[in-house]
Amino acid sequence: MEIRDSVDRRRTFAIISHPDAGKTTITEKLLLLGNAIQLAGTVKARKSGRHAKSDWMAMEKERGISVTTSVMQFKYQDCIVNLLDTPGHEDFSEDTYRTLTAVDSAVMVIDGAKGVEPRTRKLLEICRMRDTPITTFVNKLDRESMDPLEMLEHIEDELQIECVPATWPIGSGRSLKGIYRMDSDDFLPYERVPRDSARRLQTIKGLHSDESKTWLDADYSNTVDTIELVREAGHTFDYEEYLAGRQSLVYFGSALQNFGVIELLDRFVEVAPVPQMRDTNLGKISPYEDKFSGFVFKIQANMIPKHRDRIAFMRICSGKYTKGMRIRHVRLGREVKISDAVTFMAGDRTQVDVAFAGDIIGLHNHGTIRIGDTFTEGQDVAFRGIPNFAPEIFRRVRIRDPLHSKRLKNGMRQLSEEGATQVFAPLHNQDIVVGAVGSLQFDLVAFRLREEYGADCAYDPCPIHTVRWVSADDPSVLEEFRNHLRAQLALDGDNQLALLATSRHNLRLIEDRWPEVKFSSTREHASFA
Ligand code: G4P
Repeated sequence: MEIRDSVDRRRTFAIISHPDAGKTTITEKLLLLGNAIQLAGTVKARKSGRHAKSDWMAMEKERGISVTTSVMQFKYQDCIVNLLDTPGHEDFSEDTYRTLTAVDSAVMVIDGAKGVEPRTRKLLEICRMRDTPITTFVNKLDRESMDPLEMLEHIEDELQIECVPATWPIGSGRSLKGIYRMDSDDFLPYERVPRDSARRLQTIKGLHSDESKTWLDADYSNTVDTIELVREAGHTFDYEEYLAGRQSLVYFGSALQNFGVIELLDRFVEVAPVPQMRDTNLGKISPYEDKFSGFVFKIQANMIPKHRDRIAFMRICSGKYTKGMRIRHVRLGREVKISDAVTFMAGDRTQVDVAFAGDIIGLHNHGTIRIGDTFTEGQDVAFRGIPNFAPEIFRRVRIRDPLHSKRLKNGMRQLSEEGATQVFAPLHNQDIVVGAVGSLQFDLVAFRLREEYGADCAYDPCPIHTVRWVSADDPSVLEEFRNHLRAQLALDGDNQLALLATSRHNLRLIEDRWPEVKFSSTREHASFA
């Protein structure tokens, strides 16, 4: 069966980490291992551009590059690996969160000296919403790092996830001797190599071999004791627990030195889940179903500014995409012919002829496709679990020329449909409030409003801490709530009622006072017309 075979070969994942933990470096090494790039440095090229904020605004080209790296597909062994980029530095946004709804598992990269950092914690929280399986890579072992036992305990305490070491480091920084593979009893000696050189490592078979003894020398007996202890006292790998996101295999290494990365990738393709069932309003859809279905989780605009080109990234959930097929845009109730979808093999945008569940294809979009939209081969179903997330930073928008206020509102609404920002219209005044997850989004919105919609705007700070979408089973309760809290309520871009809380305390107080009202930090998209 073509579909079953193709699905079983797919591994679709994202890397989650705090900035500077090494996501870009490990991505680069994974792409090298997958022969998707010839030279190290390709991914880095993007990063150097990314840091130059003012340049970035003018550099539409740069955004073209970042789109090709949005999805990186490569072959490894018998598998087709789809690595989805999660923007992390200044370009961190709601897209980062939503990308995590389109993967089947995630690799969490942790800085070996710093341990769990805030962004990692937040991204793991998002993964937990779908019980996404997590594989951990403790990076920068070539620098002085935390003791591995302490590190495992630290991750378990901080993130409430059981850690099972797949490799075990012997030393770190200057005293790094190598890593030991817990499953195969192989020992990988470490030697610092010039950066980016192709490392050819001779594995030593057996920790008890004479070769291991010689290499480890004075560290030998201590290493044997520790590994015995880890084996006896540690958790054993339980596949079900891993699939449920409660247990993580942990690898140690150095992305920069390309040390320990191959061990991660080898086992990852073996263990990581194939494309999973997906929830819809009519029950679950299996990736093996014959009929095509998929959902849009990200829209990237303006790759060719002249054409106002937008690409909608669709995660295929079942069936087979073939070039030229007709599919149903469920929200609009309309059939569309897709003949120019793109894929992202080896960092280039190329036309795609066939694609299967787990793959991401890019559809050209002229403003009709929204985040959360479902496409099917005829069925009127809508995927769930591709929500808007509560923004974390808010600004009040000030229009410089009042005559342009209509343009501004129009532009704001359209930009928010792309999903990186959200607009809120307070019930009690004419303000426009924008919310985002990363602060660069505000500059980007102002820039695009001016360039694309001819509306010049500035931002004022506003005292909003967070937002919660509100609903109630009893309409009269909601009506009463609405009357009481009018001054704190707003409608979002989809006319959904939201509470703009001024502080954590304010939110808690309101939640306590209104037990019959539901407060949600995410909102599902309306998928039907
Ligand atoms: P990010 O995408 O998660 O933000 O991290 P990135 O890979 O860009 O890595 C952040 C910094 O950490 C980079 O240094 C990178 O070289 C370094 N790094 C990544 N992995 C390792 C590792 O295994 N060992 C060591 N020692 N360093 C590592 P930088 O100085 O910011 O950039 P660059 O000048 O080296 O390019």
